[in-house]
This record gives sequence, C-alpha cells and structure tokens, in this order.
Amino acid sequence: RSIMAINSLPTRPVIISTDPGIDDAVAISLALFSDDIDVKLICPIAGNVDLKKTTYNVQRLLTFLEKEVPVVPGSSSPLLRVSKDASNVHGESGMDGFNFPNPTITPVVTKTAVQAMHETVLTSSTPVTLVGIGPLTDIALYLHLYPQDKERIHEIVLMGGALGRGNFGVLSEFNFGVDPEAAKIVFNSNISIRMAPMEIGRQAKIMPNTSEKIKSLGKIGEMFYSLFAHYRGGSFSKGLNMYDVLALGLILKPEMFEIEPTYVSIETQGTLTGGASLIDLKGYLGKESNAKVATEVDAEQFEKWFTEMVAKTI
Ligand code: BDR
Ligand code: CA
Repeated sequence: RSIMAINSLPTRPVIISTDPGIDDAVAISLALFSDDIDVKLICPIAGNVDLKKTTYNVQRLLTFLEKEVPVVPGSSSPLLRVSKDASNVHGESGMDGFNFPNPTITPVVTKTAVQAMHETVLTSSTPVTLVGIGPLTDIALYLHLYPQDKERIHEIVLMGGALGRGNFGVLSEFNFGVDPEAAKIVFNSNISIRMAPMEIGRQAKIMPNTSEKIKSLGKIGEMFYSLFAHYRGGSFSKGLNMYDVLALGLILKPEMFEIEPTYVSIETQGTLTGGASLIDLKGYLGKESNAKVATEVDAEQFEKWFTEMVAKTI
C-alpha cells in the first residue's frame, strides 16, 4: 500500500452493483480512481437499461478507464415484477453522449453475480462494503442465499428511496420502485446501511460552471462533460442530479451530509405505492433504526469535492 493510503483512511474493499446509467458511470469512475476504495468486483444489473446494455456499458467504461476489475453480470429482471427502464433519462444505450472504445474487457460468465459476491467477500482480508446504485435485486439475492456472509460485510451503502415523493411512481424512487421486494430484503437484513435518498441527489447538483471546469480535467473530465450534455437527470443549465455519486460521497466525504439514524420500511403491498420508502424520521412506527439516512447535503462542498475527485483522475 502507498504511504498516502497508510496516512489516510484504510483502503476499503467494495463490490458495486450497478445499472449504468450516466450517474452510475460517473460514480464507478471516481471509485476506481480513489486511493481509499478498492473496487473488487462490479456486477451490472438490469435497471436504467437492460442487462445486456448495462454489462456492455461497464465493459466499455472500464476499457476507456484502463482499469481491470472482474465484471460479473447479475439479474436481468426484478425478483417478482416486470422490468421498467429509464432510457428516457440516460439515452437508448444507457450511456449516450460519449464515443467509448470497443471493449477489450470481457465479463465473467462462468458464475453468477451472487456467487462472485460470495467468493469476493470470503477471500477479502477485511470486511467488504456493498455499494448499491441500481435496483437491489442482486444484493437481496446474495443476502438471501449466503446469510452466513453477513458478518463479513462491513456495511451496505446505497442510493435509493425518497424522503417524500418519487421519480418512478408518485411515492417511489427508481431503484426501489423497480424492485421493492429486493429493497425490503435489504432493509430487513440487519446489516448496517447508509443511504442517500433521491432528494439528496437533487440537492447535490453539478452546475454549468462545474461542468465547464471538469471538461479540462483530463480525458475522464472530458468524458463526463460529454455524458452530461446528454443526461436528462435534471438539466445541464439548471444543474444535473448526481444521484449515484452520493453513495460514494457517503463513503469518502461523510462530513458533507446530515445523517439521521432512522427506521426505513419498504412498501411492497400497496397497489399504487410499491417501492415507497417510509423513512420514519418522526418515529411513528416505533421501530428501532435500521439505516442511517442522509437528510441534507452541503451542495457547495459537494461540487468542490466532486471537482477534486475528477482532478485525481488526471
Ligand atoms: C437512480 O435511478 C437511476 O436512474 C439512477 O442511475 C439512480 O441510480 C435515481 O433515482
Ligand atoms: Ca443507477
């Protein structure tokens, strides 16, 4: 390990479950260039676009970044429900707007994402963090099939849910709305969870002057800029929502958030409200906290941190 890593935070092994997705691509890139995170495994999953596309997106992203990390594709649909994508936000490919090279990185197809997660956790010398920035289907399947691994999981850090209204349904955010049953399994797992709900992803916006700044920060800054010009999560001129990057922010820069330990319940029975996250800040349900929920983020600090992280990729 480098001297820098010894002096700062210990390097944290992580597994990323993801559905790139423009904000996913940004979060993955920053994680791969952070000295404090060791990305052990990336498991694409169906979400923003279908599994074939999210897998291809991870392959071409890693090829462009020149980073070799095992890629093991996961679920092509939610546990019980029919898939619904978000190609209106991220483009037909899921990562529209930049001309990525043809991939030279190939996915592992001899095992499932869940098996790969299990092997990664078993062989890691320190407890692993699961980062969920897509629907939680694979993380739920993993916890269901390998409950004995729970003690080797440091925590789950995720982007998902909403404090109030949703972006998938009236009351549900996309990642939870796509697979409510999976989200429920995760929140009932008794593993320590930190989460950035949708509103936090909307508070932490990338404003046009930051987009312009990162454009000149090397090839990765340029790539982000091109993706941002096509991304429909928010608007380029009024600010882009960096949802998934907030999960990374919770790991690398927790001091920019206000965080409340809270009981979070996931609605799976409602005919109109599937995937709604009841973030019980006032304790109406009288239950013990099962998650630490970000309720505010300092937008200025976020943009500053984001720009510094992009600068690190040069
Ligand atoms: C979440 O949904 C997806 O479109 C984004 O990638 C993010 O994970 C935001 O609700
Ligand atoms: Ca995502």
